[in-house]
Amino acid sequence: MNRIPLAPGLLEDAALSDSAEVHDAFRSDVITGLSQPQKALPCKYFYDETGAQLFDAICRTPEYYPTRTEIALLHTYARDIAALAGPGAHLVELGSGASIKARILLDALESPRSYVPVDIAATGLYAEASSLQLSYPHLAIMPVYADFTRPFPLPSSCAQGRKVGFFPGSTIGNFSRDEAARFLRRTSKMLGRDGLLVIGVDLKKNKRLLDEAYNDAGGVTAAFNLNILRRINRELRANFDLAAFTHCAHYNVALGRVEMHIYSLAFQSVRVDGHPFSFAQGESIHTENSHKYAVAEFQALAQDSDFTPVQVWMDEARLFSVHCLSARSTH
Ligand code: AVI
Repeated sequence: MNRIPLAPGLLEDAALSDSAEVHDAFRSDVITGLSQPQKALPCKYFYDETGAQLFDAICRTPEYYPTRTEIALLHTYARDIAALAGPGAHLVELGSGASIKARILLDALESPRSYVPVDIAATGLYAEASSLQLSYPHLAIMPVYADFTRPFPLPSSCAQGRKVGFFPGSTIGNFSRDEAARFLRRTSKMLGRDGLLVIGVDLKKNKRLLDEAYNDAGGVTAAFNLNILRRINRELRANFDLAAFTHCAHYNVALGRVEMHIYSLAFQSVRVDGHPFSFAQGESIHTENSHKYAVAEFQALAQDSDFTPVQVWMDEARLFSVHCLSARSTH
């Protein structure tokens, strides 16, 4: 059996040395975000332990179609993806989480050389890697603890063989167009000359469906959105009264994105680590953008960002797309 290349102490050291830095960045991002005329918070802070559980619950709501649609697409087209990847590929998943979708590809790929899950949630990363190793005893599994939104090195053993990047879930939609282009360029460079990227992208569609997907009747998305205030209370000595705020998301047709906000139900003042912030009744904190792309629009973005579109798969209702792109050498 292949060993997961990490001594247990390293994981704790990494987590410890990170924690002060992560806390300072969180504090500074929250204070800066709440000081703007349109108050805003970066959506990456949704994912504390509760936030991650609530996101999993969102994926199971009847209204949130992306997860089940993408999983069905991967099952249907896994063989086509495997044929494009060819034998002996390294599968590099960016933001691997529970690796559920990667298993679909691993089951279809011909003799994959390795699976490289990349994630910033260290504990989950190594736990999932160990559990995956039990299912795939002959596969080299090489977890990389890194923030995939910044450059990071791949294990040196990936130098030989084709690298197939995997970025499911339409997480690219949470980037602005410029951030998405920068991410794609970096990823193209990382995958190298022969590299492929398999990426899930949510499609533009009817406003009603999108509004429902981000305002589910069971209130799971509302709890997910408001949980960011609970996290700020706990980690930054703040005093948000969650009952005095409410969640609402809407599809901004002109900008092609779902915008998620937290609205203040009354005039109120809040302190975050000693900094006062006042809210007018109806004033919002903008917490997330989720961009939606027409197929041609995403292919144009990929083309501008050092990739060549190879193939795209969609469900019959055209809710979601999975693209295969090939990395274009810029040298
Ligand atoms: C993680 N990301 C792709 C989700 C999305 O659809 O933008 C996050 C989410 N926010 C509310 N519901 C789901």
